[in-house]
Amino acid sequence: MKKYVVLSLVLIELFFSSVYAKSCVVFFSLDTLDLGAVDASTAATRPDFNTHTVAQYVAEKTKSDLLRIETMETYPNKINAAINVFQEQLSGARAVSIKADKDNLDSYDQIYLGYPVWLNGMPNEIVAYLKMHEKELAGKRISIFSTTGGSPNSQSVTEIKNQFQQIVFGSAVSISMMQKDNYKTLIDEWLGKNS
Ligand SMILES: Cc1cc2nc3c(=O)[nH]c(=O)nc-3n(C[C@H](O)[C@H](O)[C@H](O)COP(=O)(O)O)c2cc1C
Repeated sequence: MKKYVVLSLVLIELFFSSVYAKSCVVFFSLDTLDLGAVDASTAATRPDFNTHTVAQYVAEKTKSDLLRIETMETYPNKINAAINVFQEQLSGARAVSIKADKDNLDSYDQIYLGYPVWLNGMPNEIVAYLKMHEKELAGKRISIFSTTGGSPNSQSVTEIKNQFQQIVFGSAVSISMMQKDNYKTLIDEWLGKNS
C-alpha cells in the first residue's frame, strides 16, 4: 500500500513539473533609439523590427514571462551618442548600471535571452544581468537570440558561454535588418531547434 502511495506521489510530481515547466524571455533593447544618422532606410523600418518586438513574439509563442533589462541611466537617443556611451563603458571610464531588479529566475527551466549586436559584441548590460543572477542560473538552459544591422552574434555568444560555464546553452540565432520581414519564420525554426 505504502509503495502505491509513494508511486502516486512521484507520478503527480512528474505530471505537475512537466505541465508547469516555466520559461521566460529576458531582453535588452534600445527600441526608441533614432538610427537615422546611420542609415535612413533602417530608421524608417525600425518600429516594427527591434529586439523588443522579437522578444514579444518569442514570449507569445512559448507562453513565457517577458522580463526587460532596465538601465539606471537612460541611453542617449542618437546612435552616435549611444555608441560613445558604450565605448566609455568598454574602456572602464563609465559604469554599467542596471536596475536592481526583482526578477527571480529560480522558477524557470528555460530562459530565452535577447539583445542587439553592438560593435560586433553585446550591450554590457547582458553580462551585468547574468552576473546579478548567477546563482539562479546554474543548470538552466539559455537560448540566445539577437537582432542586428548585419553583424553576427557569434562573438558575444562565445563570450557568454566562456564566462558562464554553469549554464546549459541551447541553439542561438541572429536576425539581421535584411531578414526583418521573415523574423517570425526564423524564430519559429530556432524555437524548433530549442524544443
Ligand atoms: C551602440 C550600437 C552599436 C551597434 N553596433 C552594431 C554592429 O556592430 N553591427 C551591426 O550589425 N549592428 C549594430 N547596431 C545595430 C543594432 O544591432 C540593430 O539596430 C538592432 O536591431 C537594435 O536592436 P534594439 O532596437 O532592440 O536595440 C548597433 C546599434 C547600437 C545602438
